[in-house]
Amino acid sequence: MKVLGIESSCDETGVALVEAGGDASTPPRLLAEALHTQAAMHADYGGVVPELASRDHIRRVLPLLERVLADAGAAPADIGLVAYTRGPGLAGALLVGAGVAVALAAALGRPALGVHHLEGHLLSPFLASPTPAFPFVALLVSGGHTQLMHVAGVGRYELLGETIDDAAGEAFDKSAKLLGLGYPGGPALARLAERGDAAAFKLPRPLLHSGDLDFSFAGLKTAVLTQHRKLGAAPDAQALADLAAATQEAIVDVLVAKSLRALEATGASTLVVAGGVGANRRLRQRLDAAVARRGAAVHYPPLALCTDNGAMIALAAALRLQHGLAVPQTDGAFDVRPRWPLAELSITTP
Ligand code: KG4
Ligand code: ZN
Repeated sequence: MKVLGIESSCDETGVALVEAGGDASTPPRLLAEALHTQAAMHADYGGVVPELASRDHIRRVLPLLERVLADAGAAPADIGLVAYTRGPGLAGALLVGAGVAVALAAALGRPALGVHHLEGHLLSPFLASPTPAFPFVALLVSGGHTQLMHVAGVGRYELLGETIDDAAGEAFDKSAKLLGLGYPGGPALARLAERGDAAAFKLPRPLLHSGDLDFSFAGLKTAVLTQHRKLGAAPDAQALADLAAATQEAIVDVLVAKSLRALEATGASTLVVAGGVGANRRLRQRLDAAVARRGAAVHYPPLALCTDNGAMIALAAALRLQHGLAVPQTDGAFDVRPRWPLAELSITTP
């Protein structure tokens, strides 16, 4: 069956089509995907403006849908299920994707299915090959979330720890803003860090030795601000690169240490990394080395599918369907869940 996925929870409009066999042993296959990022539109404001985001999703979603169907050589009538991001995210932005998805499903006489955005992220390594084996530990690191989950199977998620303040992506973005790198600054900070010496500045590693699996990044941002002020009004380019490298290293140190602790605590031998920060090269290098030393395996989504996209939404819907966990809607009614704890999805029966 062909499953269409529509993502519109924040500042990316994503549409994708996957093919899912009836047999859960064959992972769904991505046929085509298209994405429009609003980053440039929000850059002037230094962050996402929800009303502008909603309006732009309206403009983008149908042209992206047409492109995906053309690229896949598929017709609207070939779609068997229309999946959309039901939450968490910006209410107005979610409503655009949900409204389009449910209307399209009704017009085609097909069911619709609301998907949890983070479930999309944490299952996204199934779009790469080889696919991860259950059970695994998932490190979810995005602009809005930093969580470690134990994933026993599709729909079987247990929260191990999470951030008590800023998310890892926020730590990248806020530090980047302090360094004058614009919005969203994560990728820009990572690029600048490649020319810097991380040892040039001493920055805190919050909660590194807390003994639990929680994170805290708000204090790091304050430390970056203090160091940046010390550099004066016209900082030297090399000093800025050094500070970027030190910031990245502090964030990566904590993410690597807690991921290893989660593997130890659960006895799992597979780590899955998902969410926008999962695109960070330094994080990947350090995790690859640390996990290999333990004799464990680490899986990432394809680089282009680390940040928000429609493919992970279509994939999560397809996997739920294959595992008999989807309850598609056919009545044209829908809602969105701007706040939606992932734990609510978990099925407790083995
Ligand atoms: O998953 P995502 O697209 O959106 C949310 O659901 O939040 O993640 C976006 C976040 C942003 O904070 C962005 O700065 C960060 O991921 N990010 C990166 C990199 N690429 C994206 N952070 C560090 N290094 C990168 N290469
Ligand atoms: Zn996301």
